[in-house]
Amino acid sequence: LTDVTEIKSKPVPTLPDAATVLEVTHWNDRLFSFKVERPASLRFRSGEFVMIGLMGDPDPNTGKQKPLLRAYSIASPSWEEHLEFYSIKVPDGPLTSRLQHIQPGDQIILRPKPVGTLVVDALLPGKRLWFFATGTGIAPFASLMRDPEVYEKYDEVILMHTCREVSELEYGRQLVEHIKSDEILSEIEQGKLRYYPTTTREEFHHMGRVTDNLSSGKVFEDLGIAPIDPETDRGMVCGNLAFNKDIMAILDGFGLREGANSEPKEYVVEKAFVD
Ligand code: A2P
Repeated sequence: LTDVTEIKSKPVPTLPDAATVLEVTHWNDRLFSFKVERPASLRFRSGEFVMIGLMGDPDPNTGKQKPLLRAYSIASPSWEEHLEFYSIKVPDGPLTSRLQHIQPGDQIILRPKPVGTLVVDALLPGKRLWFFATGTGIAPFASLMRDPEVYEKYDEVILMHTCREVSELEYGRQLVEHIKSDEILSEIEQGKLRYYPTTTREEFHHMGRVTDNLSSGKVFEDLGIAPIDPETDRGMVCGNLAFNKDIMAILDGFGLREGANSEPKEYVVEKAFVD
């Protein structure tokens, strides 16, 4: 009898691969982040992505519901107990128009098959690691920035993040601040992380596209460092398609080559999630 009671009182998952939402933070009217319970069996490398989503609306003819899934970079590091995601809110986006309303206790679908190219293993050893991101493309770097392996393998880690407006930088700004001030994270980071945020459409102390600040050499001047060199520098790129293409051309110009899990080279690229 006891067993039956116990089984009955357990919450019944209503979704396939369900994960319970723990916390939701709204950064502005277009951006939010959330934490979900991590399935005990889920292993991933910092920088990888998974498919997450919700059940879609019932088909008007059959009444059947299909899962509505999108690729999301895991924004938390691989050692963290929970999983974190960072998302845009697209008013008429099939998934994010609904996902933005999730609350703690709700369930989302989480397909437990992490993959991706923005992993330390896909790069040859080097001295400086660059993270180039626009908008929500910062998500995989939010994970990597908290991974001890990154700081064990590199002397310096530089995050360049460009958004249109200052409020869109806030998630990254607070994360960097937390890494630098938290007792455990700052020990992992060893003072190696450098942060270069810029805006393009609102006044800020540093402005301009990542691409322009690299091409002009402004970022090297501002940080007081030597320009990118294929001998020492490694890069990871995550943003919209045009951004990725433009950064790749610049990195190619510096003599870096695109690598992959199967063939590590000097830089790797992944498209940021867009609804
Ligand atoms: P800009 O304001 O000059 O377009 P979006 O919100 O459109 O995804 O853009 C996010 C940020 O990425 C913006 O600051 C935007 O600058 C910048 N961006 C967009 N496309 C490119 C590109 N091809 N190269 C560099 N930066 C880009």
